[in-house]
Amino acid sequence: MKTLIVANWKCNLNTLQEVKELFAKVQNTEAVICPPFVYLSALSHFRSGRTKCVTGAQDCFWENSGAYTGEVSPLMLKNLGVEYVIVGHSERRKHQKETDAMIVKKVGAALSAGLKPILCIDKLSQLELTLTSIKNLVVAFEPLSAVGTGHPYDVKKAAEMYRRIRQIVGEKLVILYGGSINASNAKSYIQEAGFQGLLVGASSLNPKEFIAICASVGI
Ligand code: PGA
Repeated sequence: MKTLIVANWKCNLNTLQEVKELFAKVQNTEAVICPPFVYLSALSHFRSGRTKCVTGAQDCFWENSGAYTGEVSPLMLKNLGVEYVIVGHSERRKHQKETDAMIVKKVGAALSAGLKPILCIDKLSQLELTLTSIKNLVVAFEPLSAVGTGHPYDVKKAAEMYRRIRQIVGEKLVILYGGSINASNAKSYIQEAGFQGLLVGASSLNPKEFIAICASVGI
């Protein structure tokens, strides 16, 4: 199976021109690119013959339509050609006060709309809540001490967490590691810790670094 690399651009890139330039440089990686919502449709217009990447959203709501000002529904994303959606990112749990109950609803709605949810967890209890919809999930272990800090998590400790997650979810699911990934540490989480992919934040905004990450894990 190919390693799954997911680029989380977070709330960055303030102009369409910047988005266009970054996309042009990374589009021929076989990654999942998750831009801010407002750029998702632009990315489909920027696609060319060289494009190998697919798109993902950084969040979605749990209803498909209705009086929910400001929300973006899983069905809207699906109909735009988006394949993946990040759900339960620790930054949303912190700043938007997303609860486990909200996240469980989002995972269910994303699956019903035909999206592949990437469920971010920093502890096992967050995973156990979604066990009923576990079949088609991608799970991303993102330890809080490593997300956005520049302090990657100890590979041996990550390997132990990988083993525990694998015990819970069974053999089939893809499990990612995320948190301060760069071109020099990417490979160790795959080869030493056993993860099937990586969720990359800050380094995904630097095209050279991002391409080097992808190359280091063979995609
Ligand atoms: P980081 O972010 O690579 O900047 O630590 C990872 C993430 O938030 O998914």
